[in-house]
Amino acid sequence: MTAPSKTTPSPHKPRVFSGIQPTGNLTLGNYLGAIRNWAPLQKDYECIYCVVDQHALTVFQDPAGLREATRQVAAALIACGIDTDKHILFNQSQNPDHAELAWYFNCVARMGWLNRMTQFKEKAGSNKENASTGLFVYPNLMAADILAYRATHVPVGEDQKQHLELARDIAIKFNNDWSVADFFPVIEPLILGEATRVMSLRDGTKKMSKSDPSDMSRINLTDTADEIAKKIKKAKTDPENLPTDKKGFAGRPEAENLVTIYAALTHQTVETALSEIGGSQFGAFKQILADAAVAHLEPITTEMNRLLEDRAEIDRILAKGGERAKALSAPILKEVRDTLGLVSA
Ligand code: AMP
Ligand code: TRP
Repeated sequence: MTAPSKTTPSPHKPRVFSGIQPTGNLTLGNYLGAIRNWAPLQKDYECIYCVVDQHALTVFQDPAGLREATRQVAAALIACGIDTDKHILFNQSQNPDHAELAWYFNCVARMGWLNRMTQFKEKAGSNKENASTGLFVYPNLMAADILAYRATHVPVGEDQKQHLELARDIAIKFNNDWSVADFFPVIEPLILGEATRVMSLRDGTKKMSKSDPSDMSRINLTDTADEIAKKIKKAKTDPENLPTDKKGFAGRPEAENLVTIYAALTHQTVETALSEIGGSQFGAFKQILADAAVAHLEPITTEMNRLLEDRAEIDRILAKGGERAKALSAPILKEVRDTLGLVSA
C-alpha cells in the first residue's frame, strides 16, 4: 500500500467521519473500540457520524429489523454523547451522494486491492461464490462515505485499519489519475483508547462481534445489569491467577482481554490496572469487572431506552442530519463529476 506523504501539509480542513452498521446489538467492542472515542472528538473537530444502513445490506436484512436497528444505533450514539445540534448524525441512505461516489470508486479501486481484504474473506467464509458483490465492494462504499465530505480523520477500531488503507489508496489514485493533486485528502485513522480490539468472552482469540451466534460471547449495550454480571461470571478463563505484568499475558488471551476491558472501563492503562488487580484470582476479579461494567454501561442503556420511547424524534434527528450532510457533500460531488467529464448542471 502507498505510504502517506509526510512532507506537504494537507490543504484540507480537519473533519472527522465515522460509521457504524445497524446490524444486531451494539457490543462492548463497538463501544470501547469506537463509539466511546467519538464524543470527545466533538470538542476539536467538526464531526459527521453515520449509521451505515446501506453497508448492512451487503448481507440480507429483514426490513423491519434494519429499521429498528438503525434507530437503536442512533439512540446509542446520542446516549454516548453525540451532540446532534452541533454535529451531524444521520443514516447513510438519506444521502445518495455516498452511493454515487462509491460507483466512481468501483472504477478506481483494483480487483487485487479488494482481493486482499481480510474482512471480506472472513464474512464470505468458505462459500465466496455465494457472497453478494456488494460485500466485495464494501470498502469502496466506505471510502466514499469518508471522501464525500473530504473527511481527514476517521476514528475506528483496529479491525478497520485495512479498509482505511484502501480508502487512502483510492484517494491517492483518484488524485493521480485525474491530475488533481490534493483533490481528496489522505485519510488519517484514529485508533484510540486502551481496548482497540475487544475479544469474545468465550474465545480470547476471536473478535467480540454482533454477529457471533453465541450471545454469551459478547456484552450488548442493551444488556441488563444481571445479564452483564452473568456473562462476565461465565467468561472463559484459565486456571492461573492474573499476572502482575503484561509479559504474563503470553499464551493467555482471555486474561489479557478481561484485564484490557477493565482498564478501558476504568480509564487507566493495562499496566496501572495490573498494579491494582494483578495476582488476583479470576473469581474476585470478575466481580470487580462486572461492577465496573454495570456502573459504566447502565446510564447509557437507560438513556438509550428513554430515547427509544420517541422513535419519531429519532427519525427527525436523522432526517435533519441527512439534510445537513447532503449540503456538505453536494458541492464536492459536483466537483467530482466535473473532474471525471460527466456532464451535469
Ligand atoms: P461494526 O460493528 O463492524 O459496524 O463496527 C463499528 C465500529 O466498532 C468500527 O469502528 C469497528 O472497528 C469497531 N469495533 C467492532 N467490533 C470491535 C471489537 N471487538 N473491538 C474493538 N472495536 C470494534
Ligand atoms: N466498515 C465499518 C465497520 O464495519 C463501518 C463503516 C462504514 C465506517 N463506513 C465507514 C467506519 C466510514 C468509518 C468510516 O466497522
